[in-house]
Amino acid sequence: MARFLVTAGPTREAIDPVRYLSNRSSGRMGYALAAALLELGHAVDLISGPVNLQPPAGAQFTSVESAAEMLAAAIACWPLCAGVFGVAAVADYRPAVVSKAKLKRAAGEHLTLELLPNPDILAILAAQKGTRLAVGFALETDSMEQEALRKLQVKNLDFVALNGIAAQGAVQAAITLLDGCGGRRQLGPAEKSELARQLVLAVGITAAST
Ligand code: C5P
Repeated sequence: MARFLVTAGPTREAIDPVRYLSNRSSGRMGYALAAALLELGHAVDLISGPVNLQPPAGAQFTSVESAAEMLAAAIACWPLCAGVFGVAAVADYRPAVVSKAKLKRAAGEHLTLELLPNPDILAILAAQKGTRLAVGFALETDSMEQEALRKLQVKNLDFVALNGIAAQGAVQAAITLLDGCGGRRQLGPAEKSELARQLVLAVGITAAST
């Protein structure tokens, strides 16, 4: 039995006590992957941003909001894990200043938010992966495969799963799985639960021996 880390869902980056920046990630693919790994008898650390899903039974679940919280939780789990699936749609930027008080609207005036780049959680983990497995996801609207392969290299990943923008929030999806040696496999279209099972096998994970 091995332990795998899965990041899932969006992150929320606070602007003030009631507002945040986020995205449309449903968390379905990450939760489906966690379930597929558990089905094979592995242990799973699921670190998730806010979503409307029940964590799969048996997962070691950590709920987070911001990218900073997700990074801290991931770093804590990583030393015990044999691999990471970075499925979270981490917000690229966060507000430079989080207002303690609710921002007031001033009629007719522009409001400019200064944003700072968030840390790349998967890249930070994969930089210290050694021979462990690191799998990323890429959601691209253009130059799809070229961009996905660039990410694979920059982030030191073994595989990148490329899906189109239609996958966002959808129940069904299709994936092009790319590796750094020119390998290319088409998975799906299928329900995300089935796609997750195919993906886990395609990256070389087999059932845990009892
Ligand atoms: O956003 P991007 O296309 O670079 O995401 C590619 C991969 O990197 C995804 O697997 C995502 O979970 C991960 N990522 C991350 N932290 C970020 C941005 C992306 O872990 N700040």
